[in-house]
Amino acid sequence: MKIAVFSTCSYDEEFLEKYNTDHELIFFKQALDYDNLSLTKGCDAVCLFVNDQANGQILSALAENGVKLILLRCAGFNNVDLEVAEELGISILRVPAYSPEAVAEHAIAMIMTLNRKTHKAYNRIREGNFSLEGLMGFNLHSSKVALIGTGNIGKVMYRILKGFGCQISAYDPYPDLELRSDGLKYASLEEVLKDADIVTLHCPLTEQSFHMINGQTLRYFKKGAMLINTSRGALIQTSAVITSLKSGGLGSLGLDVYEQESGLFFRNLSEKVIQDDLIARLISFPNVLISSHQGFFTREAMRQIAETTFSNADAYVSGKILVNEIKP
Ligand code: NAI
Repeated sequence: MKIAVFSTCSYDEEFLEKYNTDHELIFFKQALDYDNLSLTKGCDAVCLFVNDQANGQILSALAENGVKLILLRCAGFNNVDLEVAEELGISILRVPAYSPEAVAEHAIAMIMTLNRKTHKAYNRIREGNFSLEGLMGFNLHSSKVALIGTGNIGKVMYRILKGFGCQISAYDPYPDLELRSDGLKYASLEEVLKDADIVTLHCPLTEQSFHMINGQTLRYFKKGAMLINTSRGALIQTSAVITSLKSGGLGSLGLDVYEQESGLFFRNLSEKVIQDDLIARLISFPNVLISSHQGFFTREAMRQIAETTFSNADAYVSGKILVNEIKP
């Protein structure tokens, strides 16, 4: 198959070339968008990542260009209009799970950093400042953690946090029976938010979960609580968390994803003036830690993404059952 691969960086090309099962790959650094649709002419498939847009208008243009298949190099599919894809006969295949440990471990890294302020200690010591003022944290042991979403990643979080001795509760419209029988307590979103020292989001972005953390739900948070989002930016209403941080409501915030990340993340903008005032404000807080959607970014996950992407492509070509297909 001839596959146009969008939003590639050197590491994507390295892993996709290494695990390619004989497809013709054309790499494009830019994200798929309205102005570069002509790049897909004559391609059988496009391979997309989290910030490539595949809304109705773009899908129609892809279909006109002959594209019959979208290979997502990610688990989330909130950027694809599934109904329109089905109408156009475009199949959508994804990588449902690629090292949930990678994302969970990154969420833990954010919790540990924000809590024990190791990023500040690193900078201070380099300047000969050995003071402990302002570095006090709290024991994770016995602290209360709310898991929002207990799917693949939430489950790994549960196991790691249990190892720390945390008291864990969860909100998920579809509770996991195995975790429940292991002692995990499920409750309503309001209840778990009210009780938690740390809230960590591990649910997909859907119509129901869009801006689930907003001015209203932030009122349920304990004063000084920590919020971690490694799932999708739009789970959080950014302006509302900024208001809460400014007024001393939220104690700290760790973001690996951001609602308007598509024009920022995965790029070096160090020579440019950042035009997004919300992220500029977030960066200015001493109690906010931002990473650039790197939760997935381990060798193991990159290999899994490449292998599953090509096994999806091979299954499509050979007419096998498409186990990783997403339907509306
Ligand atoms: P999953 O599909 O295995 O689990 C998601 C869980 O969320 C399910 O148990 C589901 O019932 C639950 N859920 C659905 N709607 C909910 C709601 N409104 N409130 C609470 N729970 C809800 O997904 P997985 O693999 O655990 O991934 C979670 C999310 O993590 C993905 O949707 C994706 O957005 C994000 N992700 C981020 C990465 C990163 O690099 N930062 C990498 C991979 C995934």
